[in-house]
Amino acid sequence: MSAGILGIGKYIPERVLTNFDLEKMMDTSDEWIRTRTGIEERRIADDKTNTSDMAFMAAEKAIENAGLKASDIDMILVATVTPDQPFPTVACMLQDRLGARHIPAMDISAACSGFIYGMVTAKQFIDSGTYKHILVVGVEKLSGITNWEDRTTAVLFGDAAAAAVLGPVSEGRGILSFELGSDGSGGKNLYQDGNIIKMNGREVFKFAVRQMGESAVHVVEKAGLKKEDIDFLIPHQANIRIMEASRERLGIPEEKMIKTIQKYGNTSASSIPLALTDALENGVVKDGDLIVMVGFGGGLTWGALTLRW
Ligand code: ACO
Repeated sequence: MSAGILGIGKYIPERVLTNFDLEKMMDTSDEWIRTRTGIEERRIADDKTNTSDMAFMAAEKAIENAGLKASDIDMILVATVTPDQPFPTVACMLQDRLGARHIPAMDISAACSGFIYGMVTAKQFIDSGTYKHILVVGVEKLSGITNWEDRTTAVLFGDAAAAAVLGPVSEGRGILSFELGSDGSGGKNLYQDGNIIKMNGREVFKFAVRQMGESAVHVVEKAGLKKEDIDFLIPHQANIRIMEASRERLGIPEEKMIKTIQKYGNTSASSIPLALTDALENGVVKDGDLIVMVGFGGGLTWGALTLRW
């Protein structure tokens, strides 16, 4: 027995903010954003929609997709750096709103690596037999901490939620290997200052290119796999150039990398599960496929895993 994904769901806000819209708001261009980042548009939640609202809508779908009821969930983990407030956590708000039992619920703060941190945490409780069904949500309302006067960061981010229910699956499927890490000395390159994100883009870029590539290679080796075994790479959708660098480091062809950055921008903790949900909805990922997920984020943090679907 191992831990795998039993169901998945997403929520994306209706409002689309294109690069052309941003051209009207600040000194930037569609051409610059597209060529430097790969982003064409992103979704922005309205004022009434909070992080917990988006998390709830994605979570409901994931539980239904798993063929379960809220009462079947044994633990809730919410990866986010944009909770409604520091406490009560989004996870506790979800416990109540979903009508789940009085189960453990907590937020995980690991920025863009948060969903992988959540999946690996869930795996420990499932592998040990402690809990059976664990809801893991990746959700961000980054528009709420974006400085719309800073073109070096404002063009990058979007809002979204995606959720997965993890549970026991047969041996050889689910999460086969993982790696998590952190380096707090790099925290100064990407942080929240008051109500806004501050970033040293070039330093984060250099770190991400090196770490994403290394971690992806490590988890493939740890699982005793070769690059030929990989069906899909789902990297954190931060910048197409960073994503491409990790694909090249793994030595896999372009068509094996799942790419949604053009539609959603960087949605931090929800980026990886959002890309997976899209790929499943479009029939791209199929039964038995071997997926490598890899992310990095503020902290600095990183995480990667291999998953047999
Ligand atoms: N529009 C037009 N010009 C711009 C913009 C913009 N939106 N932003 C910056 N520029 C200008 C700069 O001012 C600079 O001009 P100069 O040469 O006259 O000084 C020029 O473009 C080049 O700027 P660079 O910063 O060198 O551009 P770079 O190629 O490094 O791309 C980017 C910047 C896209 C931010 C890149 O560094 C990057 O992707 N870094 C990683 C970011 C990331 O993934 N962060 C994760 C955060 S997720 C989280 O944890 C919440």
